[in-house]
Amino acid sequence: MTDVRVVISGSGKMGRQVAAAVAAADGLVPCAFLDALQTDHTIDDLPVYRSADECFDAVSADVVVDFTNAGWTPVLCASALRHNVRPVVGTTGLPPEFLQQLAKETETRRIGAFVASNFAISAVLMMSFARQAARFFDNAEIIELHHDQKVDAPSGTAKTTAELMLAERKNPFVYPPTEKEIVPGTRGGEFGGIAIHSVRLPGLVAHQEVIFGAVGQTLTLRQDSMGRDSYMPGVVAAVRAVMGLDRLVVGLDRLFGLE
Ligand SMILES: NC(=O)c1ccc[n+]([C@@H]2O[C@H](COP(=O)([O-])OP(=O)(O)OC[C@H]3O[C@@H](n4cnc5c(N)ncnc54)[C@H](O)[C@@H]3O)[C@@H](O)[C@H]2O)c1
Repeated sequence: MTDVRVVISGSGKMGRQVAAAVAAADGLVPCAFLDALQTDHTIDDLPVYRSADECFDAVSADVVVDFTNAGWTPVLCASALRHNVRPVVGTTGLPPEFLQQLAKETETRRIGAFVASNFAISAVLMMSFARQAARFFDNAEIIELHHDQKVDAPSGTAKTTAELMLAERKNPFVYPPTEKEIVPGTRGGEFGGIAIHSVRLPGLVAHQEVIFGAVGQTLTLRQDSMGRDSYMPGVVAAVRAVMGLDRLVVGLDRLFGLE
């Protein structure tokens, strides 16, 4: 079988880790970085392109893995699809309209694409367990904890977890009223009756607790990503899988048959 040629969009913390993981994976070859804000011309002996069209015109690629920001990802995906390159997207904070557009575009072109707000298998299992528990409890809160450089809140994982939990139920969760919120925002952001709390601290990577409560009992699910390497097996699996897809798939749970 011929090697899968991979462009890495984003030369930040995740992008560099992805390049190393792709280089180490059998049958995958990193061929370039793509990053509009990067001033270096090469990173780890790979060429760096600043324009997506220029990159895909110059480099023969099968897949582009994107860990950048939500402003850039739609521009990247439009260019990738025009060049018959399959996007694997880990960037978070993407608007739902973009995902709808990507689903339509990939279906029309019959080309694979994959988007996941979390590539760590432990996080995907935590979301799956939270979804299972959701119909047995009327009260739930999510505490997500991330490093202090994270641009969006809540995390994509927290929002996806809440959406999955809500999809299992007829009614929203019960959000207990707080008569006096002395410090505004203390009760977190409310989403379908679930209070979501975002903690940002140096020293953290990515962590989440989902706490369910009922009379006389609670259930706490906790997941910790100790380093960015935790995402790499999921990214490599997605790069391999997207080659066999003919439309957009969202979520590692679907690739792993957990849905
Ligand atoms: N899905 C997951 O499992 C997962 C895991 C970790 C991080 N993430 C997400 O991945 C993204 C990147 O995280 P990171 O820690 O590598 O961040 P980072 O800040 O280290 O890197 C971001 C990269 O994107 C590039 N970039 C930013 N704006 C751009 C633009 N307008 N055009 C082109 N390039 C642009 C920057 O130059 C930088 O190289 C974030 O959205 C983060 O939430 C997702």
